[in-house]
Parts: sequence; C-alpha cells; structure tokens
Amino acid sequence: MSKIAVETRELTKKFGDFTAVDHITMSIEEGAVYGFLGPNGSGKSTTIRMLCGLLAPTSGAGLVLGMDLAREGRKIKNQVGYMSQKFSLYPEMTVLENLELYSGLYGLRGVQKEQRIEQMLVLAGLQGREDEQTRLLSGGWRQRLALGCAILHRPRILFLDEPTSGVDPRARRLFWDIIYDLAADGTTVMVTTHFMDEAEHCDRVAFIYFGALIADDTPAKLKKLIPGKLFEVESENGFELLGRLQRGEAGSIIDSYFFGKKLHLLVEKESSIENEEIFRGAVVNEIAPSMEDVFTYLVKKESGKELGGGRISGTGEARLNINAVASKEG
Ligand SMILES: Nc1ncnc2c1ncn2[C@@H]1O[C@H](COP(=O)(O)OP(=O)(O)O)[C@@H](O)[C@H]1O
Ligand SMILES: [Mg+2]
Repeated sequence: MSKIAVETRELTKKFGDFTAVDHITMSIEEGAVYGFLGPNGSGKSTTIRMLCGLLAPTSGAGLVLGMDLAREGRKIKNQVGYMSQKFSLYPEMTVLENLELYSGLYGLRGVQKEQRIEQMLVLAGLQGREDEQTRLLSGGWRQRLALGCAILHRPRILFLDEPTSGVDPRARRLFWDIIYDLAADGTTVMVTTHFMDEAEHCDRVAFIYFGALIADDTPAKLKKLIPGKLFEVESENGFELLGRLQRGEAGSIIDSYFFGKKLHLLVEKESSIENEEIFRGAVVNEIAPSMEDVFTYLVKKESGKELGGGRISGTGEARLNINAVASKEG
C-alpha cells in the first residue's frame, strides 16, 4: 500500500465570521500529483498555507509527512517546498543571488550548496544567465527560478499555488514537464490551478467551491460523474438555439451552455438528438467531457442552480470563469 503524504480531517479556517476553508477532509498519496481546483476566492491558497505550516487552522486536524499541523507548523515549514502565488523572488537580485539566499534559508553549505544551485540552474534552464537581474527575466524564466528556489532542499512534498498563472502556454508545458520529473522521483506535488487542461495532467483532482470540497477523484472517474451523453453543437445561431433549448423546445436535454463559440448539450443517456428538427443546419457531434464540463456540472449541482439555465457557462478556453462571489443561493 502506498504511503500517505497529506491527510486532513475537517480542516477549517475562519477569518472572523467568514469561513474560508470549510471542513475539508482529504488525503494525498506519496508521489502523486494532486490538483486543487476552484474559482477565485474559493479557499485554495488558504488551504495550502495551512498545509505548509504558515497558517494555523481554526479547527480540524491534519498531518503533513506525519507532522501535526496544529503543533508542528514550524517543522513542517522547514521541510516542505512552497511556491506562493506571487513568486517570492527578489527582483533586484540576480538569478544566482536568489538561489544563494534560499540555500542559506535552508541551511545548505559548501559542496552540497554548490551542487544544488547548479542543478537548479539546469532545471530552470538558466545556466549562463546567473548574473542577470531577476526582474528582467520573462514570466516563464522567473517561474522556473522560483520553483528551483522552492526545491533547493529536496523537499519530499511540494506545494505550488497557481504556479502557471501569467505565463505563456509554452512555459506552462515546460513547467509541467518538470513537475512530472519531480513526481517520477517520488516527490508529492499539490498544485492549485484554474486551468482546466492542467487538471487533466493530475493523478487526482479535488474541486473546492466556497471553501468546501465538492469532488475528489481521478480525472477519469470525475468524468463519469456526468450523467448522460455530451454533444457539441456548432450553429450560426448559437444564441437563438440556446434560448430555444432552455425554453424546453427539445426533449431529453439535461443542460445546455456555451463552450467557447460552440454549445455543449448534456442529454439523457438513452436518447439521441441528432435528428431533432431544432438542430437542422447545425453540426452535432457526441464528444467526451472535458474537466471543464465536469466542473460546470458539479458547480450547478452543488449550488442548486437549475440545470439547463446556463447561467454558469463554460468558456471553452479551458479556464475557470465561475465567479465565487456569485451568491450560492442563486
Ligand atoms: N487573511 C485573511 N483575512 C480575511 N480574509 C481572508 C484572508 N485570506 C483570505 N481571505 C478570504 O478567504 C477567501 C479564500 O481566499 P483564498 O484562499 O485566497 O482563495 P483562492 O486562493 O481560492 O483564490 C477569500 O474570500 C479571501 O478574501
Ligand atoms: Mg489563491
């Protein structure tokens, strides 16, 4: 049986009367890449900061690498790797100076320090650029340097808080290659993101919504939560078609929403919609659900919003656009 790197029970954080993290119970296996997804303000950073020993929980319990969140925060902080949402690099310092500073914080010395810095320069692709000022690096380089700084001490677990926001797609791919390499070497990685395509890369994905965990499983199993079949519809009159669907002009439709320029229709399992009159002139294809379809479905279900209402819609741009400030009562 695999070992557990993180385990929480009813982990909760309140700020005054406001519950930012609401009784989260989860576990992460050692060596897994665990994706933590949710809209802005849903409690991702607060959860991560508790797991890193930076913020004391209000109630509930948790173990990180066997250490107790409530009592051993300082020990946890020194042993985990953490890359915060705002990469904590010193912009006025050079690449090498940043790496040296973090080596010092982790207590690395002598040959070991030299070796680790060299390895991190290779990992970040920054060999030969040691003397460049950090603020002059582009987003992707800064991101990889920040990662290098976060893992200088070879942490067994790494917490990444939206590491890929604000970097271009190529840099994002490069970054994920590094994450896979680390996981293959046995490092446990917990990563928050609002990029749905990145969720597909995770061994396991948890959805957090208004501070609560609303799903937690492998991407393949999460996709099976969607009832029925999913169709993609390309039509010149998308808006009009969506309006008619939402007024119930076609049978057996569970939900319909925009996904980029196309429509996605969730249809009861036994039925077929291709021959319905309403779709004449449109291109209709059955498709496999993406993680964004899963999330759209789960959020509507969770918030009690009527399916079919289409008030929460996918963007088709593989990015969460569901706004957590929208009232939960809807
Ligand atoms: N120190 C704090 N004091 C008060 N409210 C906070 C504090 N930190 C976070 N919050 C609130 O908690 C909620 C969750 O925030 P956060 O964990 O940063 O969400 P996410 O990372 O998912 O965007 C937000 O509504 C945020 O405003
Ligand atoms: Mg955050």
